[in-house]
Amino acid sequence: MIHFNPETRTFNLLLKTSFYAFKVDSENRLVHLGWGPRPASADSEAALISGWTVYGPDKGESSFEQQSRPDELVTFGEVSYHEVSLKVNFPSLPPKLQAEEAPHLPIRDVRLRYVDHEIVTDAQPGLSPTHGQPTRNSTRRETLRVQLNDPVQPFQVTLCYRLTPEHDIIERWCELNNLGDKAIEVEVCGFATLNLPHGTNELTAVTGTWAREFTTQRQQLPHNLYILESRTIETSHITNPFFLLNRPGQAWEESGTVYFGQLAYSGNWRLTFEQLPSSAIKIHVGYNPFDFNLTLAPGDRHVTPAIVCGVSANGWGGGSRRMHAFARERVLPRPDRQLSDRPVLYNSWEATYFDLSYDGQLELIRKAAAMGVELFCVDDGWFGGRRHDRAGLGDWVVSSDIFPEGLNPLIEEVHKLGMQFGLWVEPEMINTDSDLYRQHPDWVLHFPGRPRSEARNQLVLDFGRTEVVETIFQALDNLVNEYPIAFFKWDMNRYTSEPGSVAGKALWRKHVEGVYSIMDRLRRNHPNLDIQSCSGGGGRIDLGILGRTDQVWTSDNTDAFDRIRIQEGFSLAYPARAMEAWVTHALNHQTGRISPLSLRFDVAMRGALGIGSSLNELDEAELAEYASYIAFYKRIRHIIQNGDLYRLQRLEEFGASIIQYVLPGGHETVYSVTVHDHQLGWLRPTPPLQGLNPSATYRAVDRHDREVYRASGYELMTLGIPGEAGQLVGYSRTLYLRQI
Ligand code: DGJ
Repeated sequence: MIHFNPETRTFNLLLKTSFYAFKVDSENRLVHLGWGPRPASADSEAALISGWTVYGPDKGESSFEQQSRPDELVTFGEVSYHEVSLKVNFPSLPPKLQAEEAPHLPIRDVRLRYVDHEIVTDAQPGLSPTHGQPTRNSTRRETLRVQLNDPVQPFQVTLCYRLTPEHDIIERWCELNNLGDKAIEVEVCGFATLNLPHGTNELTAVTGTWAREFTTQRQQLPHNLYILESRTIETSHITNPFFLLNRPGQAWEESGTVYFGQLAYSGNWRLTFEQLPSSAIKIHVGYNPFDFNLTLAPGDRHVTPAIVCGVSANGWGGGSRRMHAFARERVLPRPDRQLSDRPVLYNSWEATYFDLSYDGQLELIRKAAAMGVELFCVDDGWFGGRRHDRAGLGDWVVSSDIFPEGLNPLIEEVHKLGMQFGLWVEPEMINTDSDLYRQHPDWVLHFPGRPRSEARNQLVLDFGRTEVVETIFQALDNLVNEYPIAFFKWDMNRYTSEPGSVAGKALWRKHVEGVYSIMDRLRRNHPNLDIQSCSGGGGRIDLGILGRTDQVWTSDNTDAFDRIRIQEGFSLAYPARAMEAWVTHALNHQTGRISPLSLRFDVAMRGALGIGSSLNELDEAELAEYASYIAFYKRIRHIIQNGDLYRLQRLEEFGASIIQYVLPGGHETVYSVTVHDHQLGWLRPTPPLQGLNPSATYRAVDRHDREVYRASGYELMTLGIPGEAGQLVGYSRTLYLRQI
């Protein structure tokens, strides 16, 4: 509920278990009042913040005074000693000023003053900017739009707050309007400023690199600034745009107050955490100001992407579950009609790499179908001159060397065996050894007269050119028109160098807009097409891309041991339903480690299960084992893909990861144990389960439907399942518990 008190000019945003409040002060500035959990007994109508009490104003009495006023959006202007979320250059003098003031231009000072507000209730799907993908939950939501104007410059900013009360989530974004007749340059463009209570300075975030994404990092923020960012043109493997924050020592996995946020943007982003000398915490979220440009022509309006943020009164786990539920219901495109759960996928990459052949794929198709796979995806190498990674990117036509009769015979076989067909693409890239490059060598990012640095032998197409975006859209659209393709694995295998574009510095934003627009148009034209976001594994995972894709490729690292850690980091922010996870060979290609099949399946079954093994190397008994696991997964995937996640034991604490997925109502749950590390003499505790019905009896079965345990919900939620936690390295088990 959004409440406005006209007397005190106070806004109260009330969510299920949390509140957010700010007010218009005596000088018409928008000042934050507070954000946090609501007392459990508070009645939503009566429990409002009056706004009579406000933070002391900055009086300007000391030349070194701290900036203590918690503005809802901190701008560069008047007294600003600290970081800002918005900086604008105005090119002209306000009316009535003399021309001799002109040498002071541009005016780098923006002040925002309250003009008006409105509360809009709509059923708009997705996030800002709107993308039109239908989502699972399309019920109407309230958005507060507060209009602020600069008092003398023709510039307007609307701060937007959209509420999803049931998950305690607020989406925040800004709309910038140039109301004048000259172009305005925006130098720093945030989506919002977040003000957190003093001392909320323990940060949980992730770092990493290719094949080592989502490494959980918990640290205390320093005073001044701490930055998480991407300068790669995409979300990046190096860190991911989400955070959890709490007062040190006052939050744990299932207890304490935790603030969280995640960006809905897949380009150069920045999260700047600022701890002021007073220990007040601000987070400036938005576009990365590095090499940034946003020029608003007269009459132009720019809508920023959104930050999705909230507060959990039940620890990091509560924060993750809120983010998961929000992504499942309000971000991910609506589940496809044939199957509301993510299908079991087979991907041929690690089986064949570039050694593709019609017969080879046919053999894999037959074996995959026999073991219960539902979606068969042909990976890299099927098109143009792509026999290796030095040629072909850009030429999205089926190679007659590999498939002399096109893809139809293969797809017919896939369909005959009851599966859907998918194809790998890497639309933003080009090899110099391609027909597209030979025709348009100027269509790539470059600076004239400078070398064009290749990475993985490829260059980046200039999506600042509308004709390039259109050509790539047409190529993909033609493929789906010609073949019954149900799934694209959309890859991107390098970061950007020499970002020279016809769009200038705006390229960083234009690239993302180009990717989004192609995906949106494809989905509109082909409502049954699913897309997986992949960027050399987990380089493009964020809520912006999840609004357009059905799942993501979590990491190129398919080693089960490494995946336990990677997936735990992923689970901090993103739902299992979107987390594609493959079972591959016993001897892992990337790490050289040998893992038992049970561990490989138990880890991969924690997300959207896929198979990437070379099926032709497996004997009959092994193929049967695969089939048995896949059948088991199909029985429990509705819980994994739609249930609430509890991290009962985190890897960083005990060397084991024990998690539980439970459906609302607590009738069914999946309990999954994986042991990553064990030291002799180390006695791991048995964690109690969560979310069950205490008086009900539960039967726990393994994949063979053998009962391994039976207990009441009460026992399970107090003592846990004995014996499972104390096992040795490589031990794993997935149990399906059902109320009887
Ligand atoms: C990187 C992806 O992450 C892999 O799964 C595979 O598709 C290769 N690219 C293909 O080039």
